[in-house]
Amino acid sequence: MTVPELADVHAAWLPPEAFQAVGERHTLVCGDGPLVRTALAEVAQACRRHGGTVRHLPASMGDDPPAGDDPPTGADGSFDLVLAVSRTGRPDHDGFELARAAGVTRVVADGPAGLLYGLFHVVRLGAAAFGADRPAEQHRPAMRRRMVNHWDNVAAHPVMGQVERGYSGGSIFWRDGALRTDLTRVTAYARLLASCGINAVSVNNVNVHATEALLLTDRLEDVAAIAALFRPYGIRVHLSVSFAAPVTLGGLNTADPLDARVRAWWARTTARVYGTIPDFGGYVVKADSEGQPGPFAYGRSHADGANVLADALAPFGGVVDWRAFVYNHRQDWRDRSTDRARAAYDHFAPLDGEFRDNVHLQVKHGPIDFQTREPVSPVFAAMPATRVAVELQVTQEYTGQQRHVCYLAPMWSGVLGFEPWRDGRSVAGIAAAGGGLVAVSNVGDDRFWTGHPLAQANLYAFGRLAWSPRLDAATILDEWIDLTFTPSATGEPDLLRRTLHALMDDSWQTYERYTAPLGIGFMVRPGDHYGPDVDGYEYSPWGTYHFADRDGVGVDRTRASGTGFAGQYPPAWAAVYESLEDCPDELLLFFHHVPYGHVLHSGVTVIQHIYDTHFAGVEAVTGARRLWERLPAGLVDLALHARVGDRLDEQLRCAREWRDQINTYFFRKSGVPDARGRRIF
Ligand code: GCU
Repeated sequence: MTVPELADVHAAWLPPEAFQAVGERHTLVCGDGPLVRTALAEVAQACRRHGGTVRHLPASMGDDPPAGDDPPTGADGSFDLVLAVSRTGRPDHDGFELARAAGVTRVVADGPAGLLYGLFHVVRLGAAAFGADRPAEQHRPAMRRRMVNHWDNVAAHPVMGQVERGYSGGSIFWRDGALRTDLTRVTAYARLLASCGINAVSVNNVNVHATEALLLTDRLEDVAAIAALFRPYGIRVHLSVSFAAPVTLGGLNTADPLDARVRAWWARTTARVYGTIPDFGGYVVKADSEGQPGPFAYGRSHADGANVLADALAPFGGVVDWRAFVYNHRQDWRDRSTDRARAAYDHFAPLDGEFRDNVHLQVKHGPIDFQTREPVSPVFAAMPATRVAVELQVTQEYTGQQRHVCYLAPMWSGVLGFEPWRDGRSVAGIAAAGGGLVAVSNVGDDRFWTGHPLAQANLYAFGRLAWSPRLDAATILDEWIDLTFTPSATGEPDLLRRTLHALMDDSWQTYERYTAPLGIGFMVRPGDHYGPDVDGYEYSPWGTYHFADRDGVGVDRTRASGTGFAGQYPPAWAAVYESLEDCPDELLLFFHHVPYGHVLHSGVTVIQHIYDTHFAGVEAVTGARRLWERLPAGLVDLALHARVGDRLDEQLRCAREWRDQINTYFFRKSGVPDARGRRIF
């Protein structure tokens, strides 16, 4: 086992310097198995660089690893870091205990994965792990499953390219229809994921095209090769599969989930997968959605569909991640009775209790589609007898495509902390009891992994929130900064940290300010979803409309006079969203159609809010760009500085375009001038 160091690829949040405190010490690693060997290799690598030593005791030391006053002494004397797997822990729990006493920092892990997570936690703490004594702290992930979904295509798609909604170059797995020959980068990626707690990954697009479908059968060896690289980091590999596979791959004349031949095909095919990849994670399925095949073709329910796959996976401990992103994408814009926001609930809530235990219903965090601002999906509260997983989008499809700074942890914290019944039970709790947290990945073969170097923080934050949903977004950002950047010995202390916080803390709200207002959503250019096109979707079949006219704007989703979507929430929230008076400003246009003169809780009218926020958003980006330019040379890597600078230029250009198009559009519609007389075209 060697730890990869890639010359031309940014080390992201695991540069060698991040391991300094560990690498300077004398470490004892106790335990067996591949994950323990990974930890050992990580420590050994750090020691080679920073002068410490490491010793391995293969047998587990039980609950009482060598302590400071009685350490086994090797040639180098005593140990000041002990990492041990407990003999009495729960190996499947991923947790660890951390304590420091008598000059020894000790991690006692539930199992081998916990030992690896414990090591990365010590890395995160740096020198602070070796300072004052620490009473024992328990660290256990809130979510058992912490997963990223790649929307990577094996063969580049004519429209979507190698990675659907990818903004960071090509796939790190696939290229030109084949598995890449050099997969060193996958190991480097596995480290990054494990270090922030991620333990599952699906390696192909949810839209399963012809070549990708074959990963399940003819090209399973490719998946096995990837799984072999993730395994040492405690990450299980999953596959997106096509519901029509029994027809397209199996030669059957039906994929009807209740047909015995179809069931047998899935069982046989799945057994073969486990014969090749014994720790295979399971299937991800997008069915009856945006053209993907599904059970509706046979008059069957999505529970019937999911369960046939679940039954095939169950003997091997695998799971199905069945996506709830099911809606009519061929809507008639003239039809005001159909509401895309309602779709997931309408399709799935009636099926509560019908899914097998090893089905995770994977629900997008909002009812529409990863918009900058949406209410939290009502499905989370509607399916108490189903294992629900929360799906987030780390790839910034609708949030600036990794050309704009948009730190998403504050948005995700809001989703995870949302209490559907307003009684203390949160979405994070629902996910923890169910299928955990899932996110669409944002990495590619770009030198900085995520195109925009600062977008790395989103992937890191996702992993950390899946482990610990209550972590504060600014704290996570500090962790990421501390790991990623070496503190400068010169210049103003903490200038870089302050600059990064200034750029990132409120960047999601800044993005919201200069784009679609008050929860209305979309207004992006159709197709690539980048930049403004206010009416781009207004007369389209996609079901995303703003209904702006000369008098007002917004979608009436009330029960009283609208689509009734507000009624999908438990009463405490249904009442809030239903009421024009109580509805939070930021979601007003999601739930209500209002006149431009409607006065918000903030005291300004809707039209004035639109003008004010769009001017303010551009000012914030101008300020951010100035701050970045003023960073003294040498404080960050030159290439990184240049890349962020270029992206800020583009962000500013694009933000101005948004501001001017939105302001002009609403000025022309409403005829209401800006109260402050600023320039509108
Ligand atoms: C969005 C996105 C698609 C993706 C879909 C999904 O609509 O634009 O590219 O396939 O979400 O989540 O399945």
